[in-house]
Amino acid sequence: MLKKKEKYVIAVVGATGAVGNEMIKTLEQRKFPVESLRLFASERSEGKKLEYKDTEIAVEKLDENSFKGIDIALFSAGAERSKIWAPIAAKSGCVVVDNSSQWRMDPEIPLVVPEVNPDDLKWHKGIIANPNCSTIQMVVVLKPIHDAVKIKRVVVTTFQAVSGTGQKAIDELLQQTTDLLNFRDVKCNVYPHQIAFNVLPHIDKFLENGYTKEEMKMVNETKKIMGDR
Ligand SMILES: NC(=O)c1ccc[n+]([C@@H]2O[C@H](COP(=O)([O-])OP(=O)(O)OC[C@H]3O[C@@H](n4cnc5c(N)ncnc54)[C@H](OP(=O)(O)O)[C@@H]3O)[C@@H](O)[C@H]2O)c1
Repeated sequence: MLKKKEKYVIAVVGATGAVGNEMIKTLEQRKFPVESLRLFASERSEGKKLEYKDTEIAVEKLDENSFKGIDIALFSAGAERSKIWAPIAAKSGCVVVDNSSQWRMDPEIPLVVPEVNPDDLKWHKGIIANPNCSTIQMVVVLKPIHDAVKIKRVVVTTFQAVSGTGQKAIDELLQQTTDLLNFRDVKCNVYPHQIAFNVLPHIDKFLENGYTKEEMKMVNETKKIMGDR
């Protein structure tokens, strides 16, 4: 359990990524009471300097002792990394807030949107999951309606930004846009089709029920957050 303090030692895991970068900016913009900030990413980024409040902080690679002395670890380095490192971090005594899909549907781990189900924070055991980005926005709107009249069915269309696929996708969009505007052919690496000046009506793999994984995340995560099983 997190002890109330005036300032907290914070870690961002996945600090060099699209989401990690936003986490660092948000800590600064919201004036979060940060005593010190530790930044972690893969070996590829070890030593790279990132800015926080006009200071440069060197990125570290993770090891078994990384989380000693850390109060809160914000994880955004993909599900595989969360699977390995979030339990290690929690065991070291810090509270993990995990942005990946790894723990969202684990019955032992609360899935929390603060505006919707803050009480679920009470039963965490060191790891707290946050939902998929589309789910987060949707449940904030649905919650008061659900409380008032009980929602039976929701029909949703999402239009999602390339940033949801990560930094490499943002770079691909920029490169393709530059190429097209210079009359050059585009190369597709991250997406199977051209993404610049285009919309791809498909996110993640299809499941046996005909929906995609991304679509089922919205269904299952919403039910868990609303306590509607
Ligand atoms: N909840 C939401 O709304 C939401 C939205 C978007 C994304 N996400 C999730 O957030 C996570 C990150 O997404 P992103 O868009 O920021 O991806 P990204 O831009 O590709 O960044 C991935 C980050 O993970 C780090 N990483 C990769 N392998 C690692 C390793 N072995 N050890 C430590 N760090 C490692 C990368 O470090 P390097 O730079 O060194 O490779 C980078 O900092 C994903 O799980 C994604 O599904 C959630």
